[in-house]
This record gives sequence, structure tokens and C-alpha cells, in this order.
Amino acid sequence: MACVVVIGTQWGDEGKGKVVDLLTERAQGIVRFQGGNNAGHTLVVGGEKFIFHLIPSGILHPDKKCFIGNGVVVDPQVLLEEMDRLAERGHPVSPERLRLSERAHLILPYHRALDLAREKAKGKGAIGTTGRGIGPCYEDKAARTGVRVVDLTEPELLREKIEANCREKNFWLQNYFQAQPVDPQQVYEQYLAFGERLRPFMTDVSLELDQLLTQGGSVLFEGAQGTHLDLDHGTYPFVTSSNPVAGTVCAGAGVGITRVTSVLGVVKAYTTRVGGGPFPTELEDETGLWMREKGAEFGATTGRPRRCGWLDMVVVRTAVRLSGIRGLCVTKLDVLTGLDKLYICTAYQTPEGEQIQSMPASLTRLAQCRPVYEEMPGWKEDIREVRHYQDLPANCRAYLERLTALAGAPLALVSVGPAREETIILNDPFAQA
Ligand code: GDP
Ligand code: IMO
Ligand code: MG
Repeated sequence: MACVVVIGTQWGDEGKGKVVDLLTERAQGIVRFQGGNNAGHTLVVGGEKFIFHLIPSGILHPDKKCFIGNGVVVDPQVLLEEMDRLAERGHPVSPERLRLSERAHLILPYHRALDLAREKAKGKGAIGTTGRGIGPCYEDKAARTGVRVVDLTEPELLREKIEANCREKNFWLQNYFQAQPVDPQQVYEQYLAFGERLRPFMTDVSLELDQLLTQGGSVLFEGAQGTHLDLDHGTYPFVTSSNPVAGTVCAGAGVGITRVTSVLGVVKAYTTRVGGGPFPTELEDETGLWMREKGAEFGATTGRPRRCGWLDMVVVRTAVRLSGIRGLCVTKLDVLTGLDKLYICTAYQTPEGEQIQSMPASLTRLAQCRPVYEEMPGWKEDIREVRHYQDLPANCRAYLERLTALAGAPLALVSVGPAREETIILNDPFAQA
């Protein structure tokens, strides 16, 4: 029995999808536990590219069960479209293979409308959200006015909730944001139809996971977003509205804390960020553009260009602390091939000249800090064919060794290309359990 959590250590898009797909063969269940379709997880399998927003990245393995936990916010239209697209590509998603928590909250059209209206109203200070209605949906969950998956099976309750919510949201949309209102009747009919299709997938995910684990099965938890987009621990307010840290598996999937056997942190070999907010090691120069082109750093959800910069170990070390990470999965190392020199940020220097190892809570204070860099020699050899750690160029190994020393956690795997097979596995978290 192993219960392994995979999370992002930076600002998202670290390559979590690839790592989860790769580790799926060792597990029986794969679980999303927070976030929604703001996530975009890319897999390259057999030369084909797949992008998942809601369905766990284990779904391409036909003998595995995938779960969407109660902590996820679900846009039913996106979920059904994702299932349809998979079926068209020869991967039908049956209710035996995908289980949806009855307790998960639903994203409704007024959530998307409010997300977009708020961003527009913020102008220059916009967060740069994905516009998928994630924040407003979590707000309703906390306000106890949300619509849950199970509500789709109770038409009268569904109608009441949608009508009550539309009255309030339409007031704000029309009178405060000068935006278009949402038609409650239309939404009700649409969601009732979604409910019909989704009913066979609905279940008590916590109960099913407990059974799986009790029978000795192994479970893999797929984090979305990244540690520094965490609502509590990230660069607030430039964050998402859920908690991408590993501890969220307990609340977001209904799994007891003592079940977790290991936590893996995915680290991109450099740093990227989509949307607004602080990014101390950002490169607004040719090297940054080079990274974006070479790493194909364009958002998997919105297509926006990602901001790029040097590896920031203050960021990674913080993630190791917050989630108790026991193994690092370093991805996109191949993207750095060809650079003469690499820089690793080891600390931030305050205006008073002090070197600090953690992120200040105040963004004003963070903006006054300067990254302290260590220079490392680069490598020129193509590493995409390498499958054994010892075959990596010496400078490449030195970079990884410095990274792990600064992170305070060992390497679990190294990814040298987007495809499943372009990976070096050093430490199998499922073998240790
Ligand atoms: P996620 O959100 O953490 O799952 O990451 P994304 O899928 O949004 O972004 C990661 C991108 O990098 C995807 O396009 C992957 O196919 C790609 N990728 C993952 N690992 C590697 C790697 O080791 N090398 C290269 N070149 N690309 C990778
Ligand atoms: P994956 O799982 C990168 C960012 C958005 C924005 C902020 C808030 O693919 O790593 P939201 O729509 O969540 O309210 O937007 O969070 N963001 C992501 N950035 N990867 C993601 O997911 C993200 N999900 C949200 O760009 O800055
Ligand atoms: Mg992504």
C-alpha cells in the first residue's frame, strides 16, 4: 500500500501531468483533490499529445481508476467535453474508470461571468486568472451557497439554488460590473441535462479510496497549480483560490493524514509563471525569450505566453517545507542544454543587506528584495536520449546536485523530454512503501 502525493513546487506548469502519467502504472487509483479546469496537464504518449483540465492524468492507462475529489471545483460542461474528446481518440471513459465526488462543487456560468468581470474591473492590477470561474466558485463554497454535484440529482433543490444564486449574482453583474446577466431557466435546464449524463459517475470518493487502500491498493494524488499559487502560502493576492500544498489531500479527497506514505515535488529546472504577480528571478531579456521558445512555454489552458526566469531555490525550498516533500522530480532539464552559464537563486537580499531564505509575506517587501545568484557552468550535449543518471554530462549532474542540496530533498526522477519514456527514475516512491 502506497499513497503518494505529487505537487508543483513553483507557480504551476512544472510537468505534473507527465510525472503522474509515468507513475500511474504503479498505482490503482489516481486522484485530483483541488483546483479545477484552470489546470492544464500535458502528456505525450506514443507521439500523441493530450491536455487534461479536470480528468486525472492517469486516464490513459485503461486498467486504472481515476477520481475527482470533493475539493475540486467541477465545470460539468468541460468535464463532459473532455470525456467526449477522449472517446473520439479511442479512450472511452466509463463510470467504472472515472469516479466523481458527489460533494464536489460545480462551476456555473455566473462564476465565469464574475471572474471575467472582476478581472476587467481590476484593470492593470488584474490577477491574470484563467477566467474559468474558479475563484467565484470557491467563494460560494465558503459562503455556503454553492451548488454541489449531488444537487444535480434533486431537480427542485437545483432549481431553487440556481434561482437564488442568479438573483444575487445578476444584481452584481448588471449593477456593479455593467455586465450581461445570466438566465436561470436556461442554466437550470442545461445543468439538469449535465446531471443526467454524470449521474453514473457520482460516488462517495472518500469511501471508495478507503476501500481501495484497505485492500492494499496504491493511490497517486495529482496536485494542480503550484505551491506559490496557494491561497494561504502563495504570493497573495496573485494566487489561485485553492490550496495546492500536499496536506490538502486530506480535506480535498477525504483521506486520513496517516494514509500518506510519500510526497513528491515537481521542479522545473528553471522557473515560469503565467498571469500577474511577483517573480524575483524573471528574465525580461533574450535569455527569458530563449527559454520560452525552447521550452514551448505557452499556457496549456489559455495559450498565454509564460514568463520565464532562473531556478529560484527560495521558492523550491519553501515548497519542500510546506508539503514535507521527500523526493524531487526535476523536469525540462533538456531545455537548459546549450546555455554557457546557468544561475541558481540561493537567497533573497533585503534592502538592509541581509540574506533571507524564505518569501516575505508582504509583496511590498518582496519587491524590495534582490535574488542572490550562484553561477554554474552549462552543458552542450544533447541529453534527451539519456536514461541513466551517470550518463548525464558532469555539469548537468553538478546542477542537479546543487539543486537537491539547496532544496534539502533527494532526487526521485529527472525528466529530459516531454514523452513518457524520456525519463530517468532514481527512486521509486511506490517501491519504498
Ligand atoms: P503541468 O501543469 O505541471 O502538468 O505542466 P504543463 O503540462 O502545463 O507544462 C509542462 C510542459 O512541459 C508540457 O508541455 C509538457 O509536455 C512539457 N514537458 C514535461 N516534461 C518535460 C521535459 O522534461 N522536457 C521538455 N522539453 N518538456 C517537458
Ligand atoms: P497547472 O495545474 C499555472 C494561475 C493563473 C493566475 C492565478 C489565478 O497547469 O499547473 P485562477 O484561474 O486559478 O483563479 O488564476 O493562477 N494558474 C495557473 N498557472 N498553472 C496552472 O495550473 C494554473 N492555474 C491557475 O494564471 O495567475
Ligand atoms: Mg499546466
